[in-house]
Amino acid sequence: MVVDPTGRPAAGEAVSLSRRSFLGGLAGTAVLMGASGCGSSRGQTAELLASATALPTRFVTPFSVPPVKEPVRRSAAGTAYEIVQRPARVEILPGLTTEIMGYDGSFPGPTIRARRGERVTITHRNTLPVPTVVHLHGGHTPADSDGYPTDLVLPSSGRFPHGGPMGHGGATSRGARDYVYPHDQAAATLWYHDHRMDFTGPQVWRGLAGFHLVTDEVEAALPLPDGDRDVPLMIMDRAFDADGALRYPSLDPALLGRPGVGPAYASGVLGDVILVNGRPWPVMEVDAVRYRFRILNASNARRYRLELDPPPTEGPAFTQIGSDGGLLAAPIEQTAIQVAAAERFDVIVDFGCYPVGSEVTLLNTWGVGSADAVMRFQVVRAAPDESSVPATLAVVAPLEPGPDARVRDWRFVQGTGSRQGQWTINGQVFDPLRMDAQPRLGEVEIWRFYADLHHPVHVHLSPFQVLHRGTGGPGDYDHGWKDTVDLRPAEMVEVAVRFEDYAGAFMLHCHNLEHEDMMMMSAFETTR
Ligand code: C2O
Ligand code: CU
Ligand code: CU
Repeated sequence: MVVDPTGRPAAGEAVSLSRRSFLGGLAGTAVLMGASGCGSSRGQTAELLASATALPTRFVTPFSVPPVKEPVRRSAAGTAYEIVQRPARVEILPGLTTEIMGYDGSFPGPTIRARRGERVTITHRNTLPVPTVVHLHGGHTPADSDGYPTDLVLPSSGRFPHGGPMGHGGATSRGARDYVYPHDQAAATLWYHDHRMDFTGPQVWRGLAGFHLVTDEVEAALPLPDGDRDVPLMIMDRAFDADGALRYPSLDPALLGRPGVGPAYASGVLGDVILVNGRPWPVMEVDAVRYRFRILNASNARRYRLELDPPPTEGPAFTQIGSDGGLLAAPIEQTAIQVAAAERFDVIVDFGCYPVGSEVTLLNTWGVGSADAVMRFQVVRAAPDESSVPATLAVVAPLEPGPDARVRDWRFVQGTGSRQGQWTINGQVFDPLRMDAQPRLGEVEIWRFYADLHHPVHVHLSPFQVLHRGTGGPGDYDHGWKDTVDLRPAEMVEVAVRFEDYAGAFMLHCHNLEHEDMMMMSAFETTR
C-alpha cells in the first residue's frame, strides 16, 4: 500500500515522497528521527512535505510588508475594523498562482495597529466555504472574544447546523462575528490567526494569519528604530504542488469531514519553501543603519535557528529588545535567535556595522537543503541614524509565587494505545466542555510543563515568566514576558503565571498545529 499524503494524484517527486512517508509511518520513526536530530528534520518533531514544483530562485523576490489596515470608524468609544475572510488567488511562486484563504484575501492578512487601552472591535465576515475562529495570539482578551475553538463563525451560506458541523457546541455565529479587544496590555508584537477546532493547521497553512501590533507610551518614548525601519517578519514554511497550489496532507482536503493529517505527518508538517511576509526567500534593500525586526515564527511546526551570514565584524548579530509579551527590562545580545512556532523575538540589527554594498543572509542553521536560509539583506546606502538602543527598556516586574502558590503539572506526550495518532496533555485529549484547572484571577501560580518531544507550549489570556528550564534558570530565549515556550525532548520548564481581569474559559495547548488539531489542548476556567 502506498499512501499519497496529499490525497491528490501523485506527480513527480510525490512517488518517492509517498514511499518515504509510508516507511516513516510503518516503522513509527517519524517522530524519533525528529527528536534525535538527524535527517531532514534536524531539531524538529515534524516531517518534511516536499514541493512537487521546482523551487524558486532564492533571494530575488522583493521583500514586502503587509498593508496596515484602515479602520472603518474611529470615535471616543473605540475603533472599528472590518475584515472579510475570503478565498483569493495570489502569486507566491513567480509565474504560478496559489489559491489561499485570506483575511481580506491577502497572505499574510493586513496588519492591525492599536494603542494600549484602545478599544478595538473587529468584525470578521466569513465568506470561506468552511467555519473559522479568530484568535488574537498574545492578546489580553475577554473569553467571548478570545476565539475558543468551538466558537465558530459559520459561512454565511451552506448547510452548517447551528452548534457547528462537528457537534461540539460552542457559541457559534453565522456569517460574521465581532471580536472586541480592550488592549489593556503593554506594547507587544501580537498576531491573529485561525483557531478552528480540529482544522487550525490547514487553515493557517492556507493563509489565515496576520500581525497585530500594540504600542504604548513607554515604547514611543524610546529612541528605537521606527517608521519603515520597524519591520515585521512573518516567517513560515510551505509546500506547493506543480500547479502552484498549497500542498498539505489533510485527510479531508475540503476541511469539512475527517480532521487531521495522514499518519506520516502526525508529528507535524514541514515545508521546503520559506516565506517571509508571504514571499519566498525575499531580498530586502536596507540603509546602513539600525533596524528593528519583529520576528514571528508563524510556521505550523518548524523551529528555526536564525543567524546572520556574514556576522557583523563588531557587535552582536542581534540585540534582543522584546519577546512575546513586549519589551524586555534590558536589551540582550544574541549571536543567534532560536524561535519555535508562535514565538516572537523583537531584535535590533545594525547594518551600520557592514560596508555599503554588503549582502547579508539570514540563515536558518537548523534547516536542511532549501530551508537553510530565510531571506537576504542588501546594504545599499549610507544614511543618518538617530536611533539607539537604551540600556533600560521597560519595567518588567518579576512574578513572585508565594510559599503556598498553587502548582500545576502539564505533561505533553504522544498518545499510545487507543490514543495512537493523537497527542495528549496529562493523558487526556481535548474536550471543549471539560475544564482542567480553575485558577483564581490575580493569584500567582506555578505551572510546570513536561515534554516527551518538541512541543511549543502556549497559554492564552495572560503572559508568564520562565523560572526554570530543567534544573537551571531560564534559557537564553526565555527572557521577559512569554506566552509560548519552546520545550525540547524530555524537558521540563517551570513558569510563574498570574491570570488577570477576565473570568471564563481559556486554553493552553501545543502550538505545533498538527499536535493541536490532534487534540493537544486543554481548557481552563479563570474564576474570581
Ligand atoms: Cu496562537 Cu491558541 O494560539
Ligand atoms: Cu494564543
Ligand atoms: Cu506538540
